[in-house]
Amino acid sequence: MPADRALIAAAAAARSKAYAPYSRFLVGAAVKDEAGRIHAGCNVENAAYPQGTCAEAGAIAAMILAGGSRIVEVAVAGAGDALVTPCGGCRQKLREFCAGDVPVHICGEDGRLRASFTLGELLPQSFGPEHLECGP
Ligand code: THU
Repeated sequence: MPADRALIAAAAAARSKAYAPYSRFLVGAAVKDEAGRIHAGCNVENAAYPQGTCAEAGAIAAMILAGGSRIVEVAVAGAGDALVTPCGGCRQKLREFCAGDVPVHICGEDGRLRASFTLGELLPQSFGPEHLECGP
């Protein structure tokens, strides 16, 4: 399936809203839920550095707030030569709501699609809700 251009545009637009005065590394993310709705987030840094949050975490929180429960497609937008793939913690956060075959599109700051992976490629042999007896 081709990458959802609206999802990528939402990630790029969210990136422009990032609060990143310390790293100056702006990131935007967008997730599409099971109903096709798009939810976006940006990184929000903090003077107490470890308290900053990633763009993906913001997008997930927006989805949960809106009543979404599953992620079917992800886009992340960031600048620079290196692909801005989700950090390890964000891969695990996405894992909570994504199947292994969910596409994760990596885009430039301008919303140009640079690469696509599945979450399973980014986080192989992962631990998730089904490992626990209690859960969704
Ligand atoms: N960042 C994200 O928002 N998502 C990622 O997956 C990678 C890193 C943010 C965190 C921090 O505000 C900045 O990028 C530099 O690490």
